[in-house]
Amino acid sequence: MCGIVGYIGYRDAYPIVLKGLQRLEYRGYDSAGIALFDDKELKLCKTKGKVADLKEKLENEIDTSGTLGIGHTRWATHGVPNDVNSHPHVSNSGNLVIIHNGIIENYESLKKELIKRGYKFHSDTDTEVLVNLIEDVIKKEDVKLGKAVQIALNQTIGAYAIAVFDKAKPNEIVVARLGSPLAIGVGEDEYFIASDASPFIEFTNNAIYLEDGEMAVVRRNKGVKVRKIKDDSLVDPYIQELQLNLEQIEKNNFDHFMLKEIYEQPSAIRDTYRGRLLAEEGIIRMAGIDDNLERFLNARRIVIVACGTSWHAGLVAEYVFEDLARIPVEVEYASEFRYRNPIINSDDIVLAISQSGETADTMAAIKLAKEKGAFVFGVCNVVGSSISRETNAGAYTHAGPEIGVASTKAFTTQITVLTLIALKLAKAKGSISNTDYHMHLQELETIPQKIEVALKQNDHIKEVALKYKDARNCLYLGRGFNFPVALEGALKLKEISYIHAEGYPAAEMKHGPIALIDEEMPVVVIATRKGHYEKVVSNIQEIKSRQGKIIGIVTEGDTSVRDLADHVIEVPDTIEALTPLITTIPLQLLSYHIAVLLGKDVDQPRNLAKSVTVE
Ligand code: AGP
Ligand code: GLU
Repeated sequence: MCGIVGYIGYRDAYPIVLKGLQRLEYRGYDSAGIALFDDKELKLCKTKGKVADLKEKLENEIDTSGTLGIGHTRWATHGVPNDVNSHPHVSNSGNLVIIHNGIIENYESLKKELIKRGYKFHSDTDTEVLVNLIEDVIKKEDVKLGKAVQIALNQTIGAYAIAVFDKAKPNEIVVARLGSPLAIGVGEDEYFIASDASPFIEFTNNAIYLEDGEMAVVRRNKGVKVRKIKDDSLVDPYIQELQLNLEQIEKNNFDHFMLKEIYEQPSAIRDTYRGRLLAEEGIIRMAGIDDNLERFLNARRIVIVACGTSWHAGLVAEYVFEDLARIPVEVEYASEFRYRNPIINSDDIVLAISQSGETADTMAAIKLAKEKGAFVFGVCNVVGSSISRETNAGAYTHAGPEIGVASTKAFTTQITVLTLIALKLAKAKGSISNTDYHMHLQELETIPQKIEVALKQNDHIKEVALKYKDARNCLYLGRGFNFPVALEGALKLKEISYIHAEGYPAAEMKHGPIALIDEEMPVVVIATRKGHYEKVVSNIQEIKSRQGKIIGIVTEGDTSVRDLADHVIEVPDTIEALTPLITTIPLQLLSYHIAVLLGKDVDQPRNLAKSVTVE
């Protein structure tokens, strides 16, 4: 999910690869490393921390000559961030050197097989398994590196963008991609490899973007041969002439990181359930839960502690856990929990949710819970973060780095992990029928493409945003599973457009907030055709009769709300417990477009930090 860079040509590789890694820093990462080859000696340096730390360490430790080089910025998925787990990784023979973005799902079974064959492993990563699998194929099949990579990748399940070379044959680099981006910069007798064009755009604007399932052998002075991984068939590569500038590339042609991350949600959710959700087999695989299943099944209750958007994800989890797994859940603001002397029983499970894994209030709540004897389970997005290390067990979201301060893909991937846990416990407790269990698993697999459909409303949402960008206040209403989504939608608008907004349970309107309604008050109502739909429709009628302006988030094809509302935004239908994953999308886009129209700093809103590590 992070950054790869490579160079093969006539120049010294080091300055190109180092600068390329610096260009990829915007993607967020936890470690960095470089391997260089000068036709005699393989030089390798890697470290937890920043590219600057790598530069410092490397220039004091190794001779940086060599016209072949690869570099990596890591966003750990398997193995905490440390020097050993950083990339590049080297095969047992010391000949093959690899860098990898993505996740090899079946690395454990592959590793077991390789250990049986005498391979030794020094890191905890899935990537080190891949490089030794390639080596094993070369030995067994007596084939060249390119063919070995093709055979090995057909034995893997997962996502990857890789670059690998053999120091015994230093005139080529082999690359491949499935699910993670990879571009080849085509220069004059020199070639560049990178996750995007930013590391090589100053040298060439001719690029080959590999498609998913493609690989290439990049040979010095001989050019690029592209093949399909599946059947080794040749592909005629299309060399694009890029007209991009650096800033456009960093944001993948989106205007802001927040918009890029909103659009990354389908792939982020796929990455998060990759290797965990086996819908066909009806299996949910989560080591952190499997190893503590009895504790969860016998828990008196689950107490969720979190802040901000993560707290909203916790609120969704309350509805999902109680509805499906029938386990009592309480959701607490970590900042309140830590100071109010809460009652925590030893058979309680505390579940801490944090994208950054560094939020001070959430960390303090975890420590308090542990002091009181509770078992603490963490859901974090940063492998090896403080919270992930403080909790007794956990499950990572695999959203990749979230750069925009306003949390988007972290929210939907948190809900994905929490829903998987709830379904796993519901199955184990027998609180859900087999039919419903399988239906939920199959529907969860369709969510990424349903989010793709919801994203297609972007232009329409931009038109709605234009009408309400000057509002002074805004109300967000939802019921049931969508009540937390209403809160989250209000938070998004507040934090990036600075318009005051409040989320409310739709039925609560008559207990006070309806006094706020007039023609100046836009009201966003989540009215998907689920749960108490008819009651939400009557809430809308109450608002309409007081001249409130209504923006309805509706199930595609809805007509009732369409007749009442001033605007409707359609989303695909799904089962009730999964609606938050879909209904949050238009609310993210609405707040984004309003903030942009108001000229706000969407990625770095005033007064806010991406991770609140202070009290
Ligand atoms: C949400 O958009 C904000 N960035 C903020 O509320 C955030 O969710 C909160 O600070 C918690 O951060 P964490 O998930 O990293 O713990
Ligand atoms: N899964 C690999 C690891 O954890 C690669 C992670 C990445 O994409 O940076 O090392």
